[in-house]
Amino acid sequence: MPEEIIDLNAIATDRHSINSSDKPKEVTFNRVHSILYGDPSTKLIYDNAQKYFNKTFDQTYPHTFLKEDIFISIIQNIHPLLKLQFIVEVGSFTGNSASIMGNVLKKSYPGSFILCIDTWLGDLNMWVNKVVWKHLSVSDDGRPTVYYQFLINIIKQNLTEIILPVSMTSILGARFLQTYQFYPQVIYLDSAHEQGETLIELSLYWNLLQPGGILFGDDWNWRVVRCDVKKFIYMKNLTIQHFKRIWILKKSID
Ligand SMILES: C[S@@+](CC[C@H](N)C(=O)[O-])C[C@H]1O[C@@H](n2cnc3c(N)ncnc32)[C@H](O)[C@@H]1O
Repeated sequence: MPEEIIDLNAIATDRHSINSSDKPKEVTFNRVHSILYGDPSTKLIYDNAQKYFNKTFDQTYPHTFLKEDIFISIIQNIHPLLKLQFIVEVGSFTGNSASIMGNVLKKSYPGSFILCIDTWLGDLNMWVNKVVWKHLSVSDDGRPTVYYQFLINIIKQNLTEIILPVSMTSILGARFLQTYQFYPQVIYLDSAHEQGETLIELSLYWNLLQPGGILFGDDWNWRVVRCDVKKFIYMKNLTIQHFKRIWILKKSID
């Protein structure tokens, strides 16, 4: 398949790069928080979370397959020239996988943080088959409230300065990062897993990944995931590694 068919790197011309120096700047929690929500020393995105829906700490969502040891071995494999500073997770739900990563960063990678991109509106399986429906926690008015569960879970684990949520679709999130030239060293893709959509996400997020970095994802056992990931590695001539259902792609440094 010719690569230009899925070259999705272009962004609308009136929203081209906002970074005036044209040199990617260091991405920090405070910088991204300030752009999205204002100065975190004045008001942190977590400050009002307790007010809504009476959520209490709950990590019982059962489908988190990322484990601490897998994550540690992945980040130890980024190129030695890269400093691990900025991770993006696409698809966070109640925050279980984000917490696993956040606790590792807090212990061993001071100054680093995770941007969690999610609509917090769930996926098809949740809406159609009512899989983990209770965790989506749809209000009487028909709106999922799992975002507030995410906030409470992060607060209760003291990860509020390491994990930053942003309620965007995966595509919008990628455009946001591209606009500011915020390029992560590690990306974890665990969103809707719909065929075609996964290929678009792969293409957009691969472009954002720093050379030498790692993009990994969940659910290799899903046919749709395998289909899009295999298409992508064929197009880019990449080799893939697996750890149980986690699949891993490393971007070459040059
Ligand atoms: C399987 S859950 C993520 C689970 C989490 N990574 C864990 O292991 O605990 C999938 C998440 O992807 C989100 N999602 C689905 N489609 C999305 C899209 N197009 N953009 C952003 N998030 C999306 C859903 O709202 C849901 O929270």
